[in-house]
Amino acid sequence: MIQLAVFSLLLLHCTHVCSFNLDELKNYIDSHQEDYVLTLRDWVAVESDSSDALKRDELMRMMKITENKFNDMKGHTNRFDIGNQELPNGQIIPLPVVVTASFGNDSNKATVCIYGHVDVQPARMEDGWDTEPYNLTEINGNLYGRGASDNKAPVLAWIHAVEAYQALDMDLPVNVKFIIEGMEETGSNGLDELISKQKDDFFSDVDYIIISDCGWLSRKPALTYGTRGNCYFFAEVEGPKQDLHSGVYGGSVFEPMIDLIGLLDTLIDSSGHILIPGINEAVAELTEEERKLYEAIEFDVENFKNKIGTNGLMYDTKEEILSHRWRYPSLSIHGIEGAFSASGSKTVIPAKVTAKFSIRQVPDMDPPTVEKQVTTYLNDMFAKRNTPNKLKVTMIIGAKPWLADVSDPLYVAGRRAVQKVFGVEPDLIREGGTIPVARTFQDVTGKSIIMLPIGGFDDGLHSQNEKMSRYNYIEGTKLFAAYLHEVSQINKS
Ligand SMILES: *[C@@H]1O[C@H](CO)[C@@H](O)[C@H](O)[C@H]1NC(C)=O
Ligand SMILES: *[C@@H]1O[C@H](CO)[C@@H](O)[C@H](O)[C@H]1NC(C)=O
Ligand SMILES: [Zn+2]
Repeated sequence: MIQLAVFSLLLLHCTHVCSFNLDELKNYIDSHQEDYVLTLRDWVAVESDSSDALKRDELMRMMKITENKFNDMKGHTNRFDIGNQELPNGQIIPLPVVVTASFGNDSNKATVCIYGHVDVQPARMEDGWDTEPYNLTEINGNLYGRGASDNKAPVLAWIHAVEAYQALDMDLPVNVKFIIEGMEETGSNGLDELISKQKDDFFSDVDYIIISDCGWLSRKPALTYGTRGNCYFFAEVEGPKQDLHSGVYGGSVFEPMIDLIGLLDTLIDSSGHILIPGINEAVAELTEEERKLYEAIEFDVENFKNKIGTNGLMYDTKEEILSHRWRYPSLSIHGIEGAFSASGSKTVIPAKVTAKFSIRQVPDMDPPTVEKQVTTYLNDMFAKRNTPNKLKVTMIIGAKPWLADVSDPLYVAGRRAVQKVFGVEPDLIREGGTIPVARTFQDVTGKSIIMLPIGGFDDGLHSQNEKMSRYNYIEGTKLFAAYLHEVSQINKS
């Protein structure tokens, strides 16, 4: 009540445009948090699952809601048609539009572009949720719902940060643009093409790109300066023209499955060392400065172990564990298709089997080179087996890693904003996973990019009981409001 009275007074004081005042913004955000939670509830209620063709109307509706929100805020909006999607069954369905919005176009100000997505992963009560996934439910300060953390609350936090400036008649410190898509969870179909096409249009005046589609590492705020890429392979071994009975033929034929498993065993040794020549050699050296970043990070090895439910890890120290998740390549074997006797005790010799594995990419690895290295190596290893079976290796995804310079002014601004809202130095972290759009923005626009997360370390993205804490949502909105000001100070000191 007292705060509200103070506001009206302040509002009366500013006859036209008020000057920046972070405390006023913070107070405004605090006093509007119930509204923000209600909006998040409305957004989470839309089942904008991009992987489910039956939910495509809901996804379209979500894009419309996003566009309407920007229009209500008097943004200059646009919707980009990015074509259709062909489903595996041949059916053609429309892709959701990409929505853009601009607030301000003052050429004396810097322009930031915020990327986000409003599609979500699938979720059903039967998957083991404790609450209805599309009914935002608050328990002990956590807001449970599919898409709450990934990525609806962060998108809304940015929107509310801009709204707070508008409501207080505070001049936006920078021009703010948004680019919001609806296909992120299924590979951002059509987005790369749109970004390339809009390079000299929508992106022509953009100075900085901000992505808030990841999370902190601990309870401490973080800035993210790198993501790993990914090269995903299929290795198919084809043998006899049909499956065979192991009692009748076993002992006389070269079995595709035995060839394939032998081959997989040559990829990586038991201590995690990748055996493909050229892979480890391509990895950028760890510098002294970088090593120091790892020392400063808050990370509890025991907690990490407990969360996974394992008794042992490949490495013992925080620095080793984090660096092997973020700045070294890793090779994972995901499964084998064609292994029909997966259940029961069928005594079959499968005629054709396909292994799936992937190698997470880090600087300075290059996916086309990795493709050649892996293919050559597997063919050589296969030749040594002297088998008549046929091997076919294909790379189906080749996503590059992304890395920012932590001394870039965008990161300096990020540290200042975190200090002003949370009173601590942020952890400087990387993501082990892949966010391909970061690299696309970097390659196409050549602008600096920052990942500024507000999600918690335990938000359960893509999993059951996804949540966003009310604290992270509201304080995150303040962080974004503060960040817009800090970015405007770049080149001014
Ligand atoms: C630039 O801003 C002015 C004032 O808000 C507005 O009238 C105009 O349409 C804007 N132009 C563009 C291209 O956004
Ligand atoms: C959402 O959950 C609340 C309880 O948290 C319940 O009262 C309400 O009926 C639910 N709404 C829907 C649409 O299921
Ligand atoms: Zn996401």
